Amino acid sequence: MNLTVVILAAGQGTRMRSARPKVLHEVGGRPMVGHVLDAARSLSPQRIRLVVGHGAEEVRDRVGAPDVELVEQEEQLGTGHAVQCAGPEFADSDWVLVLNGDVPLLRGETLRSWAEALAGSSHDLGILTTHPVDPTGYGRVLRDDQGRVTGIREEKDATPEERSIGEVFTGTLAVRGERLGPWLASLSADNAQGEYYLTDVVALAAAAGGVLAHRVPDPGEVQGVNNRRHLAAVEAAFQERTAAALMEAGVTLRDPARTAVYGKVHPATDVVVDPGCQFEGEVTLGAGAHIGPGCVLRDCAIGEGARVEANSHIEGATVGPGAAVGPFARLRSGTVLEDGSKVGNFVEVKKARLGPGVKANHLSYVGDAEVGEGANLGAGTITCNYDGHRKHTTTIGAGAFIGSAVQLVAPVSVGEGATIGAGSTITKDAPAGALTLSRAKQLTRHDWKRPEERAKEEQD
Ligand code: UD1
Ligand code: CA
Repeated sequence: MNLTVVILAAGQGTRMRSARPKVLHEVGGRPMVGHVLDAARSLSPQRIRLVVGHGAEEVRDRVGAPDVELVEQEEQLGTGHAVQCAGPEFADSDWVLVLNGDVPLLRGETLRSWAEALAGSSHDLGILTTHPVDPTGYGRVLRDDQGRVTGIREEKDATPEERSIGEVFTGTLAVRGERLGPWLASLSADNAQGEYYLTDVVALAAAAGGVLAHRVPDPGEVQGVNNRRHLAAVEAAFQERTAAALMEAGVTLRDPARTAVYGKVHPATDVVVDPGCQFEGEVTLGAGAHIGPGCVLRDCAIGEGARVEANSHIEGATVGPGAAVGPFARLRSGTVLEDGSKVGNFVEVKKARLGPGVKANHLSYVGDAEVGEGANLGAGTITCNYDGHRKHTTTIGAGAFIGSAVQLVAPVSVGEGATIGAGSTITKDAPAGALTLSRAKQLTRHDWKRPEERAKEEQD
């Protein structure tokens, strides 16, 4: 079957009250229209045409792809006009499927089973309908007394009686290619909004031989987004769907409603996620990993059995098997924690490799560093990696012991098994196996008196 998919995404989305084109508002961390494109792709169509208008450049930048042809609708004269802009050579296609760019939760599966039913039917047009709890704002599906679809009435054109109809059009429609051109050409804008409604094609098809209407049982799947309340409802439904898939895959979400995924999580089994976590980009979770409450994980991999304690923020990092992070740790881009290493509270690590079993338990900054196996960084260890102009590297050998409150002024290296005395400022390489320290001498003055004592002595 030769299939063309047309996705309507030219509208401004006035009701969003936004400078951003409506279809670029995000659901699950991705533009709405990106979800629609995925559903379209799952049908393996011959071509996908995306009708853009408002913010065309931005839409192109965000979702443009080699398999998507962009068509510009310069003036938004209605959904029928938008489809016309994607033409006119529809007769080459067996079927043309029209999707609204603002209906992001529609599943590829739903489209596939419907497309099969359509292809096997004698009808020239098919629509997806549903029964939402509140049909306000949608086009209503008109049926005759034998239940046959006769047309769609837009809310603004509907009589009170028509508005009481609970079945609505989802914005998803498929037409035989040879029929579409002539039907679109006969549309008029003689209606409440002065627009060329794509939905008027349905009455033409009904008169010409009938419409195959297919009901989507879950209205949430086909909820359209016209304002921010709809966006929030769709986001919630998306999160619910994502959480269900994670649990299906063997993840314990201790509070699914308080788990947010703005991207993709790839979990192994027996992962536990505490309430209030947020996942962004691509996140991999190893078997048995435990993510404590309130963590943000962005584009990172957490190893098997690793523990991330409460309120940690991890981005662009790899946490090895059995490693421990947090509470209140921050791992930034380029961090690699090897097996069993530990980064504790109020520690920031950036572009650094911590070898197996390394410990940085308290209040440290480790940036641009290589830390060998088993080294211990005491509380308050700071790598001074930036001279105000360039970044420099700190190398710490395996088994080294860095005392508390040490500044390592990079570029600098500490040899294997070296000990650095607490409070040192290390500016030159410290040799392996030895104690290196740099401290001002401690001084005690016994002749010293407190100011109040001095004042009293002067009085006397
Ligand atoms: C549309 C349907 C309505 C249906 C609802 C489902 C029409 C006339 N109405 O109404 O029956 O119940 O979707 O969600 O089709 N667009 C363009 N160019 C235009 C106008 C719109 O590309 O000139 C795009 C919009 O960007 C949007 C989609 O078409 O992605 C739908 O437009 P919108 O204005 O949201 O239509 P609804 O009022 O929701
Ligand atoms: Ca809409």
